[in-house]
Amino acid sequence: MSMLWLTLLLSWPAAASSSNARPGCEEKCGDVIVPYPFGIDDPKCAMDEYFFLNCSRSVSPPQLWFRINIEVFNISVEDGTMIGSIWTAERCYDGLGDYNYTDVRTNLGDGPFRFSDTRNKLTAFGCDTYAYMGDLVGSFWSGCISICNNESAKITENSCSGIGCCHTPLPKSTKSLNLTLRSAYNHSRLGNFMPCDYAFLADETFNLLDFRLSDYDKSSSNATIEWVVKEGKCPDDQNSNVYRCGDNTNCDYSENGEGYRCLCKPGFQGNPYLGCHDIDECKEKERYHCEGTCKNTFGNYTCDCPIGMHGDGKVSCQGFRITTIAAVIGAAIFTMTVGILAFIACRERRKKRNFFNNGGMILKHQRVRIFSEAELIKATKNYDKSNFLGEGGFGSVYRGVLSDDTQVAVKKPKEADKIRVSQEFQHEMGIVSQINHKNVVKILGLCLQTKVPLLVYEFVSNGTLFHHIHSKSSQVLKTWKNCLRIAAETASALDYFHSLASPPIIHGDVKSTNILLDDNYMAKVADFGASVLISPNQTAMATKMQGTFGYLDPEYLMTGNLTEKSDVYSFGVVLVELLTGVKPGSHKTLASNEKISIIQYFLSSIEDYSLRQILSFEVADETEMEEIEIVAELASKCLRSSCLNRPTMRQVSEELDRIKKLHDNLWAQENSEETEHLLGDSSVSNRFQHATAEIAHPETHSVVSFDIENYGDSM
Ligand SMILES: *[C@@H]1O[C@H](CO)[C@@H](O)[C@H](O)[C@H]1NC(C)=O
Ligand SMILES: *[C@@H]1O[C@H](CO)[C@@H](O)[C@H](O)[C@H]1NC(C)=O
Ligand SMILES: *[C@@H]1O[C@H](CO)[C@@H](O)[C@H](O)[C@H]1NC(C)=O
Ligand SMILES: *[C@@H]1O[C@H](CO)[C@@H](O)[C@H](O)[C@H]1NC(C)=O
Ligand SMILES: *[C@@H]1O[C@H](CO)[C@@H](O)[C@H](O)[C@H]1NC(C)=O
Ligand SMILES: *[C@@H]1O[C@H](CO)[C@@H](O)[C@H](O)[C@H]1NC(C)=O
Ligand SMILES: *[C@@H]1O[C@H](CO)[C@@H](O)[C@H](O)[C@H]1NC(C)=O
Ligand SMILES: *[C@@H]1O[C@H](CO)[C@@H](O)[C@H](O)[C@H]1NC(C)=O
Repeated sequence: MSMLWLTLLLSWPAAASSSNARPGCEEKCGDVIVPYPFGIDDPKCAMDEYFFLNCSRSVSPPQLWFRINIEVFNISVEDGTMIGSIWTAERCYDGLGDYNYTDVRTNLGDGPFRFSDTRNKLTAFGCDTYAYMGDLVGSFWSGCISICNNESAKITENSCSGIGCCHTPLPKSTKSLNLTLRSAYNHSRLGNFMPCDYAFLADETFNLLDFRLSDYDKSSSNATIEWVVKEGKCPDDQNSNVYRCGDNTNCDYSENGEGYRCLCKPGFQGNPYLGCHDIDECKEKERYHCEGTCKNTFGNYTCDCPIGMHGDGKVSCQGFRITTIAAVIGAAIFTMTVGILAFIACRERRKKRNFFNNGGMILKHQRVRIFSEAELIKATKNYDKSNFLGEGGFGSVYRGVLSDDTQVAVKKPKEADKIRVSQEFQHEMGIVSQINHKNVVKILGLCLQTKVPLLVYEFVSNGTLFHHIHSKSSQVLKTWKNCLRIAAETASALDYFHSLASPPIIHGDVKSTNILLDDNYMAKVADFGASVLISPNQTAMATKMQGTFGYLDPEYLMTGNLTEKSDVYSFGVVLVELLTGVKPGSHKTLASNEKISIIQYFLSSIEDYSLRQILSFEVADETEMEEIEIVAELASKCLRSSCLNRPTMRQVSEELDRIKKLHDNLWAQENSEETEHLLGDSSVSNRFQHATAEIAHPETHSVVSFDIENYGDSM
């Protein structure tokens, strides 16, 4: 109990000194805080008679008055300002030349007060208005003119530019104000339209739009009055009686006329006229940063970084805390232990997995959904013909709609060779479920209740690339931009198969019917029935012949070895198909009656610069033609007879990406900066020259062609 009293007693002086008023003086008049040197109620509460204000408590809420006619709303010690209302000068005409008026004479008196020259403006409002401003001793004279007619008076924005409103700044050191209004024509030209003129001081809070409202009180306005504690210089001897600043303060000069104010020294706070006290920075963590051990000093504070760390704690500490180091070591030991356990667990699991490798059990490890047979029958309306999408490798594909409205593609095996088909399906499933690439058709799940499993894929809505290339009605591939994009997307997916998926995958049946286009015509590679997983030590794989005539790698035909470069060849054929719009495997009869394959025809057109004639779409401009030539060269490299001379899918994909980016940038540029068009053109063609030089030495190509006029989609 005695402790509590002691605490209260000790805290009392601190509470008093944090007050803005002199001890024993009232600090507030209504809502307005009256800081020392100002005072109310008792002249002793103010620094001198100039700072003694009249708090009129007979009205509610109480009003604080400076001199007789300025109501005070705010006093700031930091800024040395006071917000007070000043009367408005007003003239109202009756349209016959007669008028009522209020002129304004305001005097701030002999005290250290001035109208702020930076925050106030003489502002006049009216349509035939001359506003004059001077002081009462005639030391300056100034004014502004505002004119308008009925149209311009409708201006709604907050602008004061001479039409219906004008303003002009105040000179420095203005201690009194004489505002008068005059009119050029006694408003006779305007009749009763806006009959009143106003002139007043407005500070930065003034809003013209408010003023225009008819219910706005136009009789006064808020102006900023600046004050100093004493006119004159800071005394040399700060201990002298005339010095008006308290302890731990600096003397500061006002910019508006002569006189000084007081400011707390850095590290101190409070009312500088009563004396400033030390800030306990360690208690104000938001304003004073400290990362370590904080210690308050008189006028400052120290901050030492925690043990083990270095630097300025007030800014930041570097290094690691002892506790952090301990935590990191602990975490490391924990991670290692978990890692070792996980490694052992993995090895156990791999053993099991190998055991099931050839069976359907592999599927259990994939994150796919298991569908019931009934669910898929319902989704595809029992594999109705209307839902038939096409034949993929080893099965037919049906479109289906699941109960949650998701569209799917269901791949149903042909019943012919159940065992083989079953193996192929599991094989495809094993490959596809490992793949996650935006340009590859995603597998959603499978159904194991049927004799051979059904695979459920995401539904790709816009059909095959083959359809879009060869259907006259499709417009997608009529622009180079789309052809280029689809080529790049396909290449990116194949590159992913070859180099990103683990183990690497050879698609084995790259062709335009296996490239699907989604809602946005984005390419998605499908059908992995022919795909081959390559184990790390193998580079090629002897498989039974599969693939599609027209797209087949001639070296694979001869050797039977399927390699990643076989996909590169097939992709080259797809590029030719995209560029020419001609089905691979078909032939051209030359003038000499010689029949050559479309591939040969394409390659010779590059050599004799007639590429443009065989393109299936309109070329927009020369820049685009340059891009097409680069892609055609790229296709010819993919079609080289020897695997070793073909680029990798990575190289192809990167090159296509590069051209696509160039194309997109150019397109964006042309659309945004028409003025730079010419400059841009020349710099771009330089870049193209560089690119063309890289692939300027095409080899001779030997091409295996098939004498089949009507080739099928798949073997
Ligand atoms: C304050 O103003 C009121 C009128 O508003 C007046 O009656 C009163 O005498 C004034 N008091 C002082 C101390 O000036
Ligand atoms: C006085 O003005 C200051 C800013 O200049 C503001 O923070 C404060 O709230 C105002 N006080 C009153 C009572 O209007
Ligand atoms: C002037 O003021 C008086 C009294 O308020 C009023 O009767 C008269 O109509 C006013 N005259 C004009 C021109 O506004
Ligand atoms: C105020 O200004 C007017 C002119 O607009 C002038 O006639 C008048 O004498 C001035 N009053 C004082 C007190 O200076
Ligand atoms: C003001 O408006 C009236 C009708 O709205 C029109 O007759 C008159 O000419 C206008 N006066 C001016 C100065 O625009
Ligand atoms: C304006 O009115 C005053 C007083 O009624 C008169 O002396 C003056 O001649 C008038 N001026 C004009 C331009 O009508
Ligand atoms: C002046 O400021 C005070 C306080 O912000 C406000 O209540 C008052 O309405 C203002 N007066 C004018 C004329 O804007
Ligand atoms: C506090 O002390 C530091 C040096 O430790 C100095 O740089 C800084 O200016 C001082 N701050 C104040 C408010 O005195």
